[in-house]
Amino acid sequence: MKKEQVVNCQFSVWYPIFKKHTIKSLILPLPQNVIDYLLDDGTLVVSGSDHNTQQTNTNNSDSEAEEDVQTPSIPPTQSVFPPRQAPEFPEFTSKVLEAINSLGGRVFPKLNWSAPRDANWIALNSSLESRSLSDIFLLFKSSDFITHDLTQPFLQCSDQDSPDPVINYELVLRKWSELIPGGEFRCFVKENKLIAISQRDYTQYYQHILKQEEQIRQAIGDFFSQHVQYNFLDEDFVFDVYRDSLGRVWLIDLNPFGEVTDSLLFTWDELTSGGDVAQRQDGPAFRYTTSEVTVQPSPCLSYRIPRDFVDLSTGEDAYKLIDFLKLKKSQQEESEEEEEEEEEEAPQ
Ligand SMILES: Nc1ncnc2c1ncn2[C@@H]1O[C@H](COP(=O)(O)OP(=O)(O)OP(=O)(O)O)[C@@H](O)[C@H]1O
Ligand SMILES: [Mg+2]
Repeated sequence: MKKEQVVNCQFSVWYPIFKKHTIKSLILPLPQNVIDYLLDDGTLVVSGSDHNTQQTNTNNSDSEAEEDVQTPSIPPTQSVFPPRQAPEFPEFTSKVLEAINSLGGRVFPKLNWSAPRDANWIALNSSLESRSLSDIFLLFKSSDFITHDLTQPFLQCSDQDSPDPVINYELVLRKWSELIPGGEFRCFVKENKLIAISQRDYTQYYQHILKQEEQIRQAIGDFFSQHVQYNFLDEDFVFDVYRDSLGRVWLIDLNPFGEVTDSLLFTWDELTSGGDVAQRQDGPAFRYTTSEVTVQPSPCLSYRIPRDFVDLSTGEDAYKLIDFLKLKKSQQEESEEEEEEEEEEAPQ
């Protein structure tokens, strides 16, 4: 896999080509100070007008403290944890909010290549669904996949001697869509030929895949030949699709043809060694999980301790825990408020 192949698989490269066949998305350039913030191991929470977090404030001038005259107050200068300025990105924040609103208020965030799939557990709803920049930052700052995009996107490329291409980092916001994991497939293309299809969520057994094997193979094959084949910049690549309940196929993502992309139910050896993946004469090899017996643990389980908690446990940064707990609390309060509002609005 060459560096150029990785460059070609950036979202902003493939999206314009396949716009009609994928989920509506917006791309915002990521300012350098935001990149620095994402890579900074220090503070987790971002203050800003997009979230109803109150400003980090450790002086005791709020009304509760005034009422509670019995409690000895710690003068700000002697506070064990003096206030730490959370970064603010007013211009970027308003652009992101505007984009989120125009996509219906809920988005799936990613960078040039990766989504923070390894960090979904940290979110309040254990999902990548984001409604604000704070939601996105919490996921991004907890994700090794995002750090990989930012720091070593060409790590597994074979042409290490050539200079790294310049990357313009981008925040990708995709309209949130409830995708059923059993409808997702990964497709491997070599020399512009579809050689293999794998169930994407291979840790689960889905009876409908077994029952509809031929229809699925046909639908994906047609989608490939009608819309994908010869339309991409590379002749070797991996594309992900979603087959919805009406049988319509959508493009979800494009990935480099190589080790950096998970080969799921195939091995890269099989996929690269002369097309020896037990292809049928008339089409690609298709692998899916065929019984409960072969169900495996979820591949993201091992990512459950993010960098931030490792830092915490080694005592490197006590602020991080404080920031994190504050953010969680404010998210919790916000969602409780929303629930109350919804209940009030519900017809009797
Ligand atoms: N717009 C969306 N709304 C909701 N969920 C989505 C959306 N787009 C993708 N997903 C879900 O998130 C998963 C990961 O998305 P995507 O393939 O874009 O991330 P990725 O980081 O490129 O993953 P990989 O490393 O496997 O290539 C998808 O398999 C799908 O289940
Ligand atoms: Mg991908």
